[in-house]
Amino acid sequence: MTYPEDLAARVDRYLNELVFGEDRLVSHLTEAMRYSLLAGGKRIRPVLLLATGGAFDLEPEQMLPAAAALEMIHTYSLIHDDLPAFDDDDLRRGQPTCHVRFGENVAILAGDALFAEAFRLICEQQQAAPAVTLAVVREISEATGVRGMVGGQYLDVSGEAWNDQSLRLLHSLKTGRLIVACVRAGGLLAGVDPRTLELLGDFAAELGLLFQIKDDILDVIGETAVLGKQAGTDARLERSTYVSVHGLEAAQQLALGSYRQALAALDRIGGKTAALAGITNYIYERQR
Ligand code: IPE
Ligand code: IPE
Ligand code: MG
Ligand code: MG
Ligand code: MG
Repeated sequence: MTYPEDLAARVDRYLNELVFGEDRLVSHLTEAMRYSLLAGGKRIRPVLLLATGGAFDLEPEQMLPAAAALEMIHTYSLIHDDLPAFDDDDLRRGQPTCHVRFGENVAILAGDALFAEAFRLICEQQQAAPAVTLAVVREISEATGVRGMVGGQYLDVSGEAWNDQSLRLLHSLKTGRLIVACVRAGGLLAGVDPRTLELLGDFAAELGLLFQIKDDILDVIGETAVLGKQAGTDARLERSTYVSVHGLEAAQQLALGSYRQALAALDRIGGKTAALAGITNYIYERQR
């Protein structure tokens, strides 16, 4: 089971066709948005949504607006994460970061705009019953707020998390919660029953933790040229990570444990989960 590259390609094509505003006066802003969005990420979040819906027989074109919205939100989080006030990074997705290329003020606005346009895209383009759309919007807004990504980013920059337990919380909020939202949104669009939705959430929470443990490991052992972002940022910023708290070898063992638990959680879900297993393998084995 390998990474579903075909789904990533579908997402790329769809993102490329999006228009964020026609007015010539905002063209610099929309250029900044497209610059970061189309730089070529792995597209793990939208692919997770598509693979989850696909496990319950939805076709990709029935989910592309919601999937693209999740990649837009993820891209917003990367633009802001790279800003001087946060991680102060100058390389992302193999090219200069948004603020280096367009200036800090435009980069902040490009992130804000991607976040807002993501919700507009879902409301305007995602075909679903109103109650389903509302559930998806609710899921994503919760995942990106204080109980999700932004809360996790706060824990990261505030230095509040320094032991095993608080670090796990940090990771599950900063990265895990949005990954959970991707999987649950796929389930919601496919109309799965509440129990299946819960099982999907359990799988994705483990996958999200695995994802961020790997990200911490790659920050230490990865190569900048392969990562497309500067290695060693966490050490430079003296951040609490799985490597700084547990050590490299223990972090690798924890990643393995998390990988096995994610696959076990996946086994408990019905449906055609081969693509989700492929994504899980990819996240565990990834070098970038
Ligand atoms: C990086 O995410 C940011 C984190 C949440 C750790 P990805 O590794 O998915 O980055 P892209 O989207 O492929 O660039
Ligand atoms: C960023 O975590 C997570 C979000 C953007 C929400 P990191 O700071 O570890 O991500 P990278 O390593 O810069 O991609
Ligand atoms: Mg960061
Ligand atoms: Mg960072
Ligand atoms: Mg990182």
